[in-house]
Amino acid sequence: MFKTIIEPFRIKSVERIRMTTREERERLVRAAHYNVFTLASDDVLIDLLTDSGTGAMSAMQWAAIMRGDESYAGSPSFYRFEKSVRDLMGFEYIIPTHQGRAAEHILFSIMCKAGDVVPSNGHFDTTRANIEVRGAEALDLPCAEGKDLASIFPFKGNMDVEALRATFKKLGRERIPLVMMTVTNNSGGGQPASLANLKAVAAVCREFERPFYIDACRFAENAYFIKLREPGMAEQPVRAIVAEMFKLADGCTMSAKKDGLANIGGFLATRDPALARQEKDLLILTEGFPTYGGLAGRDLDAIAVGLNEVVEEDYLAYRIASTGYLGEHLTKAGVPILQPPGGHAIYLDAARFAAHLAPLQLPGIAICVGLYELGGLRAVEIGTAMFGRRDPVTGKEQAGPRELVRLAIPRRVYTQSHIDYVIEVVAGLYAERARLPGYRIVEQAAFLRHFTAHYAPEQRS
Ligand code: F0G
Repeated sequence: MFKTIIEPFRIKSVERIRMTTREERERLVRAAHYNVFTLASDDVLIDLLTDSGTGAMSAMQWAAIMRGDESYAGSPSFYRFEKSVRDLMGFEYIIPTHQGRAAEHILFSIMCKAGDVVPSNGHFDTTRANIEVRGAEALDLPCAEGKDLASIFPFKGNMDVEALRATFKKLGRERIPLVMMTVTNNSGGGQPASLANLKAVAAVCREFERPFYIDACRFAENAYFIKLREPGMAEQPVRAIVAEMFKLADGCTMSAKKDGLANIGGFLATRDPALARQEKDLLILTEGFPTYGGLAGRDLDAIAVGLNEVVEEDYLAYRIASTGYLGEHLTKAGVPILQPPGGHAIYLDAARFAAHLAPLQLPGIAICVGLYELGGLRAVEIGTAMFGRRDPVTGKEQAGPRELVRLAIPRRVYTQSHIDYVIEVVAGLYAERARLPGYRIVEQAAFLRHFTAHYAPEQRS
């Protein structure tokens, strides 16, 4: 067979990339206070800020958009959407929302109260925030390998099952309203959880009679990793693996902006009629009537088609191979990354990349600014700027738990030559890393400061 895995699509419509020079970019990023969130996307050559809502829709999805029915209640678009989710995941009650965090907000508003604890393999920030806003605790219980950036364990997204059991024994089931598994684990590097681990976590939940939920954002990528890596799974169709994963769960939250292959949308699903009723009541208050949930009918149709395209094995083979390609070439160039490559993103190990900078000198910000200036790439810092804190009393800055820079790959958007260019830019910056200046925060908001903070370089060389 041929070794080149081609993009399993051809391009019908294109978007122009506006070329910029290094001088222009130095000026633009200075004007943006060295915060790449503040850049206009027209000034970015390759945008790896997120894989959320940034994918390219297929001709079939655009055709479905024209079928979209905008009836307030009982739209056929909703029934097509509901059927796609049900056929894939098997849930009885499916509640559309405008995106993933709206599903989280409804779920935790109903299931969580102050003093509760929600264990996970790794909560995403919006999930964590939606739990914490109830006065509850979002508890991460990743497996030991998941904490080691260099480990090449195939399922670093697994939960530590013994730690989960110990948490139930220590706190009692009353304080744990549900357990959640994020597939793949975005905060932990886009790493998958194995089917065996999902089964083990579900079994603990059954033992303690507590619901088991899946944060399903990247369920198809996770299922494909199971097919590739889990003993005995190679011959299973991805759809069958997906069915097996969700059979274990009592419900899920989903951002259709990822593995829904849509630009907007999400949903909440459950098997429990009483819970679904409560969720729909809150949905009407915050999102809209239960057959549109804050979305246009055409969005529901785009998701209905996207959910079937995302489990096509040619697509997933290309998707996982193209992320792996970026990871492998960066590794060959000596660039330190979180290993092994994840499903949707490559995470640079910023502490080793810019080893001359201490965490409070914001090595991840230095790399993001450097990538933009050198090659027009936009990436996101996941380090002290995002997760560090300033003591409100002393004003002293505290470092975050680790320093990463995420290069997230939008679905079906960039070709191999774009990725080759990314490799060249990242390797080029790595070669001149000693010149990266440290940064400090000169202005910040009280919450989620990384979106709007202003930074300044310590010195320019
Ligand atoms: N859960 C996970 C694992 C996510 O990665 C995200 C979003 C959400 C929930 C929330 O979904 O954005 O539709 O409200 N992640 C994006 C990212 C923003 O860039 O990783 P949403």
